[in-house]
Amino acid sequence: MNELDTLVDHARTAFAQAATPADLENAKALFLGKSGRVTELMKGMAQLPVEEKKARGAAINVAKQAIEAALNARRQALADAELEAQLRAEALDVSLPGRRRAGGGLHPVSRTLERIEAIFASMGFDVADGPEVESDWHSFTSLNNPPNHPARSMQDTFYVDLNGEDGTPYNLRPHTSPMQVRYAHQQVKKLAAQFEAAERDPNASAPEIRVIAPGRTYRVDSDATHSPMFHQCEGLWLGANVSFKDLKVVFTDFCRTFFESDDLVLRFRPSFFPFTEPSAEIDIQFQSGPLAGRWLEVAGSGQVHPNVVRNMGLDPERYIGFAFGMGPDRLTMLRYGVNDLRLFFDGDLRFLSQFQ
Ligand code: DAH
Repeated sequence: MNELDTLVDHARTAFAQAATPADLENAKALFLGKSGRVTELMKGMAQLPVEEKKARGAAINVAKQAIEAALNARRQALADAELEAQLRAEALDVSLPGRRRAGGGLHPVSRTLERIEAIFASMGFDVADGPEVESDWHSFTSLNNPPNHPARSMQDTFYVDLNGEDGTPYNLRPHTSPMQVRYAHQQVKKLAAQFEAAERDPNASAPEIRVIAPGRTYRVDSDATHSPMFHQCEGLWLGANVSFKDLKVVFTDFCRTFFESDDLVLRFRPSFFPFTEPSAEIDIQFQSGPLAGRWLEVAGSGQVHPNVVRNMGLDPERYIGFAFGMGPDRLTMLRYGVNDLRLFFDGDLRFLSQFQ
């Protein structure tokens, strides 16, 4: 093999060994660059006699062309390989199922609240909403629970670093009961007009308040069945002649509808709340199913105390009735068989998505 053939052969080997375009350009410089081997051979021709120059030049040119052809072939091969790798990396399997957009859904407690609202609406109850940052008067004093009364210690309240007009700090409402007074207060004028109309016309509808007030409430409390933020739903029915019997009917009806079971009994257990007299704790008992036989507390209730009716701006001689406060979180736990309240408020989608 002559010197030129050997050179072409070396170039081919060097190009074949270049694994990347950058390697290949370095290898090219060795042979075809300004101080590469081919250039050197060209320069060497200067010393040759004229008659040899022509043949030598032609031979070097043949070798140069062979090297250039090898270079181009290798360039193409590397580009092809790169394209192929890219295509392989970006390969689409069109037979795979598409990615579905994650659907949102209602929180289980929101579902319970909607359910409660629908059931009470069907019994003629209005739905009211009110502030979570409350005045001391609304949360306590108006509910017959004056400053320094021992009943205040029934609730471990969060206070806000801001005083109301009476100089006492605002609180995060520890129950929805202040909504009784807020709502009734808004109705005073309307009720007075209805009262007058009813005196003139015995067929006119009697003045009445029927309302529920669901919402968030707060207490310094945290364990498996208590969360610093939780929900309550207040209920209030006031009229000329609304009695404990009505409370029993309404609440029994509510529980049976809510749990979709007639196989459920209620117990009114005597208790104390400053804003009701008499007061009762409402317990329910399922007669069948996993919770059968246990008494489960679901609400506080009672006949609204005359002092509270007065604080609503109403005459306790004209308005009598009942109130209750229940725990929608508890109802949600019972309905779905969940035993740790905190799961509802951790925001873990693995838990929450089970209710969709
Ligand atoms: N507010 C009470 C509590 O949070 C619950 C309650 C009891 C509400 C009796 C009422 C009621 O309306 O009449 O413990």
